[in-house]
Amino acid sequence: MKLTHAFSATLLCTTLVIAVAPRGAQAQDAPDTVLVEQGRMVATGADCMACHTAPRGGKPFAGGYAIESPLGAIVSTNITPSKMAGIGTYSEADFARAVRQGVRKDGAHLYPAMPYDAYAELTDADIRALYAYFMHGVQPVDDAPKVQTALPFPFNIRLSMVAWNLIYARKEPFQPDPAKSAELNRGAYLAGALGHCSSCHTPRGLLMGEDSSAYLAGGFVGSWFAPNITSDPVSGIGGWSTDELVTYFRTGHADGKNQAGGGMAEAVENSLQHLPEADLRALAVYLKSAPAIRDPRETQPAHEIGTPVSNEADIRGVFPSNAHDSLRTGAELYSGYCASCHQPNGAGSENQAYPSLFHNTATGAIEPANLVATILYGIERNAGGEEVLMPHFGTGSFVGTLSDLQVADISNYVLSSYGNPQARVTPADVAVSRTGGPQPLLARMQPYIVPAMITGAVVVLLILLALVLTMRRRGLAALVGHP
Ligand code: HEC
Ligand code: HEC
Ligand code: HEC
Repeated sequence: MKLTHAFSATLLCTTLVIAVAPRGAQAQDAPDTVLVEQGRMVATGADCMACHTAPRGGKPFAGGYAIESPLGAIVSTNITPSKMAGIGTYSEADFARAVRQGVRKDGAHLYPAMPYDAYAELTDADIRALYAYFMHGVQPVDDAPKVQTALPFPFNIRLSMVAWNLIYARKEPFQPDPAKSAELNRGAYLAGALGHCSSCHTPRGLLMGEDSSAYLAGGFVGSWFAPNITSDPVSGIGGWSTDELVTYFRTGHADGKNQAGGGMAEAVENSLQHLPEADLRALAVYLKSAPAIRDPRETQPAHEIGTPVSNEADIRGVFPSNAHDSLRTGAELYSGYCASCHQPNGAGSENQAYPSLFHNTATGAIEPANLVATILYGIERNAGGEEVLMPHFGTGSFVGTLSDLQVADISNYVLSSYGNPQARVTPADVAVSRTGGPQPLLARMQPYIVPAMITGAVVVLLILLALVLTMRRRGLAALVGHP
């Protein structure tokens, strides 16, 4: 029944679309340049580029970026105005439905790897501008991405997103709060609808939806941990000045605080650095007002932890500098692999282009995932026309591939010397980071879902059989006159 309804609704939509199409085509002849430019800014703020462009020279918005989810890779699609491979046949209404509600033109549901649950807050005006930009400001690319999304059962059933959406995708287009300043409202819109900061910085629950009671309190994004960015002075960014936050958004680097790696490097590179100063300030002011959430394990801000320490005097000259294989302890490995840039005492270079490893949230945090991820994956970011690069020491490294044990030893040396002494890293933690980060329960359950369903079916069959047998026996008993 329901399916038939959905089907006729789709038919109705299709008819409507066909009816509207000629007007869309007319609009295509005369693009409104102001609107297109406005849309380009919305697309920048919303960072559509980060996911819809394949890394290393992919054509803008042609898709093919595989987002490693714990359930398998979800590949972004081509959203150029190509009629063959992109969204060239989308009407503005189709586009609005895809971006804000996660429903494709053909009626199929998108996975929330596309952050439609955040974009649901986009205003109608911004959607209109965004649509104008994608139709007239983006070059059509007629090739579909080479890889496609193929999740294992039961996650390949896109219709299951209907249930997910009922629970998690509940936002409405943004309404400014008249009790708050224009700057705070702008910041809230930038963080929510556009920047979708919470899609990384808010932890996710069992069904991978954001836990709204822990808004911006920190969450895993693959191997990286997006830290607590609530206004709390200990666990969050309460101790960062507005200027430090603005500098961080613009460059991905704030001295004595943090350097953006992983998904944050992408957010800075593709989105934040291009926003006007007033927007970055609004974002900072908003974060500093976001309700504070503290992790009870933390008593000191991560960026205040640590002092310069050097073991160099004890180990210098003990090994030839190229004899990396003979390095055994964390201190020796640090000296061999890290000290050339971060200095033997961990203080970094004078201008902090090689940052200090103390007074750094990557080492001071109670959660050491970003230290491990930095060693395995390095830092790569292009901001303000400058390329920031720390080489990676993971698989395929050009400088030297470190084993799980070596990464753990270096991490523990860095943590105990310069960082949070409460944090520890085991070789198993490094192995988890190497394979894409901790798996949420839902992903860990995946291999058992099919067997569980089969077991369930068998149990039901056995119960049925038992029932039939008892009824038969009773029936027989009644026949032969027993009670
Ligand atoms: C965090 C990553 C991410 C960001 C940011 C993102 N998208 Fe997506 N988008 C995806 C993925 C992944 C898919 C495909 C999902 C699927 O197949 O279920 C997708 C699908 C789409 C589709 C459906 C196209 C089709 O027919 O398959 C549209 C339209 C779209 N995105 C537009 C946008 C726009 C506009 C923006 C910026 C406002 C944006 N996306 C930002 C990841 C992203
Ligand atoms: C794709 C995931 C992702 C998105 C989207 C994202 N962040 Fe981040 N963010 C991270 C990660 C991961 C880090 C840790 C970076 C590191 O230490 O190398 C981080 C770090 C930060 C930090 C530094 C915190 C600290 O304690 O060191 C701030 C501030 C921040 N993000 C703000 C934002 C804001 C504001 C937005 C939205 C406009 C945002 N982020 C969007 C993943 C993300
Ligand atoms: C060739 C120079 C170089 C070497 C060698 C190097 N780093 Fe780095 N490191 C950098 C640069 C550059 C950055 C990023 C600076 C920025 O983002 O502004 C960085 C950043 C970091 C950060 C901060 C990351 C964050 O998320 O905030 C940590 C932690 C770190 N390095 C640890 C190490 C460790 C441990 C080693 C040895 C295994 C090492 N580095 C080797 C240059 C280097």
